[in-house]
Amino acid sequence: MSTKLVFSNAAIENLNDSNASLEAIGEAMNDQYDEVANPNGIMNLGIAVNKLQEEIILKKLNSINTVTKKDLEYNTAFGTETLRTNISNMINKNFNPVNPVNKDDIVVTNGATSALDKLASVLCNPGEAILISSPYYSVFETDLNLVAKAVVHNVPVPVSEIQSPVQVRYYQKKLDELNGKGITTKAIVVCNPHNPTGKCYSRAAVEAILEFANRNKLFVIMDEIYALSVFRNTESASDLKNDKIKHAGDLNDAVGTYSDNKYEFESVLSFENLSELIDPSLVIVLHGLSKDFCLNGFRVGWVVSPFNKQVVTALCKIAMFSYQAGLVDSIISKLLGDTEFLDSFNVILRKNLLESYERTTTYLNNKNIKYVPSQAGHFLWINIQPLMIRWKNNNLRKNQFRITSPSELTFDDDMEMWLSVIKDARIYYTAGVNFKSDEPGWIRLIFSQPWDFLKKGLDRLFDYIEKESNSIPQIKSKI
Ligand SMILES: Cc1ncc(COP(=O)(O)O)c(C=O)c1O
Repeated sequence: MSTKLVFSNAAIENLNDSNASLEAIGEAMNDQYDEVANPNGIMNLGIAVNKLQEEIILKKLNSINTVTKKDLEYNTAFGTETLRTNISNMINKNFNPVNPVNKDDIVVTNGATSALDKLASVLCNPGEAILISSPYYSVFETDLNLVAKAVVHNVPVPVSEIQSPVQVRYYQKKLDELNGKGITTKAIVVCNPHNPTGKCYSRAAVEAILEFANRNKLFVIMDEIYALSVFRNTESASDLKNDKIKHAGDLNDAVGTYSDNKYEFESVLSFENLSELIDPSLVIVLHGLSKDFCLNGFRVGWVVSPFNKQVVTALCKIAMFSYQAGLVDSIISKLLGDTEFLDSFNVILRKNLLESYERTTTYLNNKNIKYVPSQAGHFLWINIQPLMIRWKNNNLRKNQFRITSPSELTFDDDMEMWLSVIKDARIYYTAGVNFKSDEPGWIRLIFSQPWDFLKKGLDRLFDYIEKESNSIPQIKSKI
């Protein structure tokens, strides 16, 4: 019997869409490096986890983890009152909202991933567009598409402009293009602090995006999942309105580094002028446990929608499909209720991120590898074009010629080198091509890992890229 006769169009579309990036993540997860048990496993420098405080959070969780009769029963699909109250308290304490967020403004889901899927199905009909500036966290594409069938359209924004209000012109261009094709655009996702560059948006940039969204009646999903992982703040934020930021073309300054403009993270919930910029009912915030609490595996995220109660109601209607375990609800309720612990945990988390960032950037500086200085999150957006040129020249195929300039690199080179590194060097990083980088030769590296592990991984990665090699994998080959 033909598959076409059995499955829905949506399932067939998903089956036919082979995603090399997701396959590689699966491979990296299934064959993870362990110094003793699996020394030939894949070292994961690509998935955004913060392993720097594992012992502290483990100890805390084990001290509060007792299963009670209540945990054996069904509870509230969108999060118990206690959990939502404690989440709202945590937000009120850390996100500086203009008006306190209430438990009824919050819908808990099993991860921000699930929240994005649910939001896409609430906001969009299949085929409708969601704009996201690229480079972006590539999983947005699948989160918003696999079930809801909303389609992410990337808006290439040069990394030099990610903090600047002038980026709105790229959104406008994309919107006009989609309008011209008869495609309805429903929303923008803005990730602040930004994955993969680790930059905080300037207030001016967020305001400009909100005004653009308002003019065009677009929802704005502010993904603030790294809100509490800002480890380098601004000393003297230059005023973007005076346009001090560098623009594409003069990204490299005289000493060959990328702009280190730093801004305070400002949650959109804290904008006292929000209603002057946008109809607030268009604004929705996302946060969760995975990044700021180092609990990816718990699968807990939440939507904060104080300005649009209908979004909350619509999400609650489908909440049984993103129900988190009762036990997780009760453990996390207790964790988030312990504000003293959370405060000291957050200080340690930021300190550890800064320390690891400094070690990693010193390592890269010593190798003369350029990167975009980051402020937040777990990652660095690194330019490896000179190394990729070298790698390509060491692995030339028949009828290929030596190259000398980054402009001769292609996204096929990005993909080939990435697959080759996973397969032969046993290192998983994120290739720029998967994050819709605007040029080949960029990677995202996760530095929030113990230095012993990270150093070994970096040595392995750069030794491999630099070494002479004649083997080259096919793009479509299974990893
Ligand atoms: C920007 C961003 N949003 C959402 C997610 C997904 O988070 P969760 O683990 O809560 O599904 C991630 C995970 O890497 C992320 O980087």
